[in-house]
Amino acid sequence: MNDLNAIVLQAQAAFEQAVTPADLENAKALFLGKAGRITELMKGMAALTVDEKKSRGAAINLAKQAIEVSLNARRQALADAELQAQLRAEALDVTLPGRQRGQGGLHPVSLTLERIEAIFGSMGFDVAQGPEIESDWFNFTALNTPEDHPARSMHDTFYVEGGSETAPNLLRTHTSPMQIRYAVQHVKKFSDLANNGEGQGLFSGDMPEIRVIAPGRTYRVDSDATHSPMFHQCEGLWVGENVSFKDLKFVFTDFCRTFFESDDLVLRFRPSFFPFTEPSAEIDIQFQSGPLSGRWLEVAGSGQVHPNVIRNMGLDPEKYIGFAFGMGPDRLTMLRYGVNDLRLFFDGDIRFLSQFQ
Ligand code: DAH
Repeated sequence: MNDLNAIVLQAQAAFEQAVTPADLENAKALFLGKAGRITELMKGMAALTVDEKKSRGAAINLAKQAIEVSLNARRQALADAELQAQLRAEALDVTLPGRQRGQGGLHPVSLTLERIEAIFGSMGFDVAQGPEIESDWFNFTALNTPEDHPARSMHDTFYVEGGSETAPNLLRTHTSPMQIRYAVQHVKKFSDLANNGEGQGLFSGDMPEIRVIAPGRTYRVDSDATHSPMFHQCEGLWVGENVSFKDLKFVFTDFCRTFFESDDLVLRFRPSFFPFTEPSAEIDIQFQSGPLSGRWLEVAGSGQVHPNVIRNMGLDPEKYIGFAFGMGPDRLTMLRYGVNDLRLFFDGDIRFLSQFQ
């Protein structure tokens, strides 16, 4: 092998070894640069005859061209490799699943309220909403609760500044004010008489029955494992010309069995006192199986609507009669899901709440 072929092979080997463009340019300088091997050979021709120069020059040029071809091929190869690496680094897999947002859901107490509304809705009850900031009149007085009643003490009630007997001055302590609000509106629809007058001008004409539930937030100065300053109640009211305690028993028993999805449920109506009902009863339920089996659990207050309350609805108590109840959706939620601390519902801990999705 002559010296030129050896140089070409050496150059090709050096170019192959170069892994970056900078390596390659350094390798190029060794052969084609000012002090490179080929340039040196060119310089060495000065001493040759004209004929020798011709043939030697042609041979050197061929070698130089071969080196340049290899150099360009390697340049292209390195550029291609760099492009491939960049494409690989920036690759986008469009088949990957997107980043998802956590899916929200309803609060367990909201689930209970929806359930209550659906069950009573199927029994023909309307659903009404009312203000959480109430007046003494709707929260107490109209509900036959005299001014010296313990429920009015500062201990139970959050009062707000301003207000008066008839202007909003407290956070409602129960949903019972909705009995009056809803009934008054209902009566107004069927009568020109809108008054709170005692015994006079009361409506006693023909009117569709009042059948309504009123779920919502209620407030009392109270806080422990089973009481929260904000809690929920759901009021129920059914007033007509022939509504009796028997109807209350039927409606509430049916509700409880549907709510807890169990016919194996016993109810007890335990005599009690509420100013706005007479007679009054506390409703207890008892599961016949499961972890709470055999225990009596209080779920609602109830009773036959007091004649004074019927009167404050604008109705004649000689003609109209009915029952009311007030239950605790928070308590029902605890029983349904086996939760033993009410505060968990209102702490906003996502680890607790996400279990109900
Ligand atoms: N409002 C009562 C309370 O908060 C519950 C109640 C009892 C509501 C008897 C009623 C009822 O409608 O008839 O303790």
